[in-house]
Amino acid sequence: MTPLTSLRTSEDEIEIINQLLLPHTTEWLPINSIPDAYDAIKSMKIRGAPAIASLASLSIAQNLSRVLKESPPPKYSGAHLDPLLDYLFTSRPTAVNLGAAIKRLRGKLDLLVKNGWEDTRALAQEIIKEARLVADEDVDRNRLMSKHGAEWLLADIAKHEKELENGKTNVLTVCNTGSLATSGYGTALGLITHLFETGNLNNAYYTQTAPYHQGSRLTSFELISLGAPSVMICDTMVGSLFQRFNIHAVVVGADRIAKNGDTANKIGTYNAAVLAARHKIPFIVVAPVSTVDLDIPNGSYIPIEQRAAIEACLVRGALHPISPATTDPAQAVVMMTPSNIDLVSGVYNPSFDVTPAELITAIVTEKGVAVKDGAAEFDLSSIV
Ligand code: MRU
Repeated sequence: MTPLTSLRTSEDEIEIINQLLLPHTTEWLPINSIPDAYDAIKSMKIRGAPAIASLASLSIAQNLSRVLKESPPPKYSGAHLDPLLDYLFTSRPTAVNLGAAIKRLRGKLDLLVKNGWEDTRALAQEIIKEARLVADEDVDRNRLMSKHGAEWLLADIAKHEKELENGKTNVLTVCNTGSLATSGYGTALGLITHLFETGNLNNAYYTQTAPYHQGSRLTSFELISLGAPSVMICDTMVGSLFQRFNIHAVVVGADRIAKNGDTANKIGTYNAAVLAARHKIPFIVVAPVSTVDLDIPNGSYIPIEQRAAIEACLVRGALHPISPATTDPAQAVVMMTPSNIDLVSGVYNPSFDVTPAELITAIVTEKGVAVKDGAAEFDLSSIV
């Protein structure tokens, strides 16, 4: 089976899986312009911090490559690139990977210009290479952080002589951080995949993750495709799960990690962290270095995206035979609130919350694992 991925490319062509239609319909959507990429990110047809950075970068590469094919090729300069980068940057505010990719491309351009690169064609080609690298380097680093994190968890369990279940671990995750949220393999879900591949996973529990349902629509799809043992729970069941089952860790991704370790991730992550602390369950954040924002001292500086109220009033899926209307397998979007709910002030719909460093046991990147060693905050210098 071809491994799942959020996007695929061939030369200048880019296609993404429309994640609004998963898991019932797999539709590949062509991305042919910067506005196409912007719209796909904003409407969450593609989502997940690393995946949106990859798509933004690839759309820049596509744009430059098409510009170069024009005849005669126009003179290329930073003046062409700047507004495109600014525009993409505004698509979603919380995940810093997007901003980091944009900063990286701008930095590359500035460096080349400073070093006297005058051939505009060669200059554009270098930016194209760098932009493609943003997407390409994702999978290898995901495998690396997954291995670091899984090995750390197993060592921590052994160190504290915790009882395993059937000789294996039970972990809980929130949202979707797998192949669909990255260029492949995933971050937190990568760690869980690593546990599974090495025979160390008893069960992967995952929350449905309302209101967009990244858990029940996407993480379920990935874990079932992998053949990994998994159990879905409603977001409201985390406390009950911790009371009744032997859970060895909560493992989540991140959209932005502040200098002190405070971490923004999908709404509901903070709830799970509070409950994990109460039950003394290690809480592990897994993310690439590009998710760490050393420019902000703590989580209060992280911009939290508010999504449209209507998104919290809808459920997406396919019609199920228990409904009388039924045999139509088409996609259904069902409103679950009164249709006259006040969409201006009657719904609160933040896309992310911030988990304070105090509640986080370990932060894992491709460079290694950071723990607090008794301090309230993290020193991330060894893993960035
Ligand atoms: O709103 P989303 O679906 O883009 O939110 C995704 C998350 O919160 C993920 O946990 C995070 O981006 C890490 S993905 C590897």
